[in-house]
Amino acid sequence: MQTAASRILLTGGSGFIGSHLTRHLLASRPQPQIVNLDLLTYCGNLSNLEDCSWQPNYRFVKGDICDEALLDQLFLDHEFDTVIHLAAESHVDRSIVNPLEFVRTNVLGTASLLQAARNHWKSSYAGKCFYHVSTDEVFGTLSDGQEAFKETTPYSPRSPYAASKAASDHLVRSFQESFGLPTKVSNCSNNYGPNQFPEKLIPLCINNILTQKPIPVYGRGDNIRDWLYVDDHVTAIDLILHRGRVGETYNIGGKCELRNIDLVRQLCQAMDQELGRPPAFSEGLIRFVEDRQGHDYRYAVDCSKVCLELQWQPSVSFAQGLRRTVQWYLENRKWVEEITSGAYQTYYERQYSLKLAGPGQIKGSAS
Ligand SMILES: NC(=O)c1ccc[n+]([C@@H]2O[C@H](COP(=O)([O-])OP(=O)(O)OC[C@H]3O[C@@H](n4cnc5c(N)ncnc54)[C@H](O)[C@@H]3O)[C@@H](O)[C@H]2O)c1
Repeated sequence: MQTAASRILLTGGSGFIGSHLTRHLLASRPQPQIVNLDLLTYCGNLSNLEDCSWQPNYRFVKGDICDEALLDQLFLDHEFDTVIHLAAESHVDRSIVNPLEFVRTNVLGTASLLQAARNHWKSSYAGKCFYHVSTDEVFGTLSDGQEAFKETTPYSPRSPYAASKAASDHLVRSFQESFGLPTKVSNCSNNYGPNQFPEKLIPLCINNILTQKPIPVYGRGDNIRDWLYVDDHVTAIDLILHRGRVGETYNIGGKCELRNIDLVRQLCQAMDQELGRPPAFSEGLIRFVEDRQGHDYRYAVDCSKVCLELQWQPSVSFAQGLRRTVQWYLENRKWVEEITSGAYQTYYERQYSLKLAGPGQIKGSAS
């Protein structure tokens, strides 16, 4: 069934992937109306969508996906036909320090959204879609030579982050099975690209190479991840949203498995070239540090279903994507500096509370 997706509630649109997806959908034809519901936690950054903020078909709402009254009001006001759910706590290291925050946002938040969609759509599910964006980490870890994750691979999450995302996937499926809610789920491998919060591996390394600080690599850097450029994830979501089958799950991957240490070395090389430094200059900054607790060894995604069914392919090679990412961070140093200084967290007050106090322009919970 094709989904029209004309009135979209998109959660987490001020984060990394959400901002790229929002920009992409706003440019599509026919133009959808998009409400971006985002709590602006430490990783939400309004400046990620600064260029879109004045578009008549885009609206930002500062609020919590766990706030049932707010969700109810938004559904009443906007009569959404589509929910695209990305809002999450997403950093594995933080989930090891504070697992309950992950349970609250990723599990309770997803359940609240599902319940709101069910309440408001129950009279008619025709043309409606609840799209849940998830991760390959729900499948656990692989050894060398083991078959890549398929959609049918049993879940075996090993970090609180992965467990909370697995729980949210199960909830989505349960609403499909129990109530007939039309849902779609995709599980994607590691993304990289512009606007990724600087605590994640690639932007962290770029920043440390630039400032000549040590580059921390867990263990011996042997862990393997499958990398996908963020724009390719966005095009896959768009295809699945509009042409994917209701009730189905799709794996999305980059067909690009890399050991962390090899990725960091490539990054050092690309940065040295961009900065005009001597070859291998930045590799000297690499420091092996104590491994993460329960560090999954290998992720690999079999994405043949989305490739065959929807003719999707990753279009950006890792070398191209890495070059684009490096260039973006070098050209947008202010973006990183505002995060480091905390100035990005005042953007909401500066941009919205002061300038957009007019009626109907902004709505949010008191959070
Ligand atoms: N980054 C990856 O490599 C990757 C890979 C596969 C899947 N995913 C999934 O994609 C989604 C987006 O990931 P990302 O890397 O863009 O994350 P991100 O951390 O950059 O962004 C998350 C966004 O959610 C918002 N948010 C957090 N808690 C909220 C709440 N209670 N209410 C409303 N908004 C809230 C944050 O403010 C932020 O803008 C997540 O669901 C993640 O699990 C990410």
